[in-house]
Amino acid sequence: MSSAGAVEPGAAGQSAAARPPLWLLAELTYRCPLHCVFCYNPLNYAENRNELTTAQWIDVMRQARALGAAQLGFSGGEPLLRDDLEELIAEGRRLGYYTNLITSGIGLTEARIARMKELGLDHIQLSFQDSTREMNDFLTSTKTFDLKSRVAKLIKQYDYPMVLNVVLHRYNLDHVGRIIDMALEMGVEYLELANTQYYGWALANRAQLLPTREQLVRAESVVNDYRARIGKQMRILFVVPDYFEERPKACMNGWGSVFLAIAADGAALPCHAARSLPGFDFPNVTQQDLRAIWYDSDAFNRYRGDSWMKEPCRTCPEKEKDFGGCRCQALALTGAADNADPVCAKSPYHDQVKNIVLQAQQSKTATANPQPLLFRSDANSLRNSHGDRQNP
Ligand code: FES
Repeated sequence: MSSAGAVEPGAAGQSAAARPPLWLLAELTYRCPLHCVFCYNPLNYAENRNELTTAQWIDVMRQARALGAAQLGFSGGEPLLRDDLEELIAEGRRLGYYTNLITSGIGLTEARIARMKELGLDHIQLSFQDSTREMNDFLTSTKTFDLKSRVAKLIKQYDYPMVLNVVLHRYNLDHVGRIIDMALEMGVEYLELANTQYYGWALANRAQLLPTREQLVRAESVVNDYRARIGKQMRILFVVPDYFEERPKACMNGWGSVFLAIAADGAALPCHAARSLPGFDFPNVTQQDLRAIWYDSDAFNRYRGDSWMKEPCRTCPEKEKDFGGCRCQALALTGAADNADPVCAKSPYHDQVKNIVLQAQQSKTATANPQPLLFRSDANSLRNSHGDRQNP
């Protein structure tokens, strides 16, 4: 078995730039008990309800480990909806992965967490939507705040480092101080305050979710005050929405570089939003082996390295740092995935991003926007697939 990070030759014809994947994200299912308005799953997820079997997932995990992957994330949808999750965790540990469960917490009973601990699950990341029951339950269209609070206690009780993820946007940015207080009370070690990035359902709800610049500045200053006050008691990560930046993020650390997502039906994706890209026939693990997919497929090679880049990326001295930004964002905002991410001030499309931010600024309150929020649900997904509501 190859060690993670080592450069390993692939099959003949592979891209010269390809290194092994480090991160395997197993999106075990698109099913989810929550209806989050910022879910990153594809809008049309309900069109495809196929899921890999236990044996197929185990085979994927083995192949990815043999390629060099060292971290394994179980996500979804809600991975706890799979009855075989414990079996997959056991196999992940046996293969030597560092295993991570990314969950809303719904379905994590004491019996299940005890079993997962026994099996050696390394890490649990729990999501909350807000510090208040009202907003948490509104944004998920469920009554789950109390349930999540109980799960947070279980995670501590079973001695897991507490990693809490809260997605921020216009509706809850002003609560950031209370969210930090809640996290401190729960004994969280690591708080991820991730402002919404606009993919999937969040993109459809962008007009309602995008905050004003003042909200962001206020929230960041609250975060900095807490950081100064609490020191190392809890680490706080605050991720600004891309739209407010002048340079793009190094999305996925570069396409086909370290990240390999396998969707519920076995489609292999270089990022979790890649299914929004037209003109791709994403390879499927039920039809091809992972080595050929990673090293030889058009899908993984198309934006690898920099030979696909146009100006301004092609001659940009920062291209080694940001890899031209995010392909999915370039597509969503400019209509072509091989354009520079328009978040970059050097992009000829950057004004579009500035205009979107300006519009958010002008509709000062969420209620000023007449379009209702689109909650993630099978019915909305199927309606959307038939074109009833388009992305902005
Ligand atoms: Fe797909 Fe950035 S989210 S490349």
